[in-house]
Amino acid sequence: MCHFETKLVTLPKHTDPRGNLSFAENFKQVPFVIKRAYWIYDVPGGESRGGHAYKENEEFIIALSGSFDVILDDGTSKKCFSLNRSYYGLYVPKGVWREMDNFSTNSVALILSSTPYNEDDYIRNYEDYKTWLQYER
Ligand code: TYD
Repeated sequence: MCHFETKLVTLPKHTDPRGNLSFAENFKQVPFVIKRAYWIYDVPGGESRGGHAYKENEEFIIALSGSFDVILDDGTSKKCFSLNRSYYGLYVPKGVWREMDNFSTNSVALILSSTPYNEDDYIRNYEDYKTWLQYER
């Protein structure tokens, strides 16, 4: 069981023969103000990225194309989400270890973030993460 609050959001979807359309807005589908967007692309099939936690940053992850898995770990329990549709968004709270695995060839991950880029906000080592949970959080 997961002790942290994460949610897979089904985004609005306008089905149209000309092509479907989905969207996300601050405090509606995305539970924070978006300060930054970045995207991961040209990932070789099967590759992994992003084994880290943020002390303050929150994220909202969308598989714009293709598929990948997001594994979330709060130090006590782990949860895996398969993102494989452009109308799913995964909310990742701050202070959670997250990995992205199993990228399909030609997948594109869009990540909406609650803070500007700040290297000091990263915890990149899992042992450091466990220590941070215990003493610094
Ligand atoms: P990083 O978040 O470390 O990706 P991963 O955990 O998947 O390896 O980002 C890789 C590099 O990109 C990092 O060293 C700095 C740069 N970067 C920015 O300059 N701005 C950003 O918003 C992000 C996300 C990364």
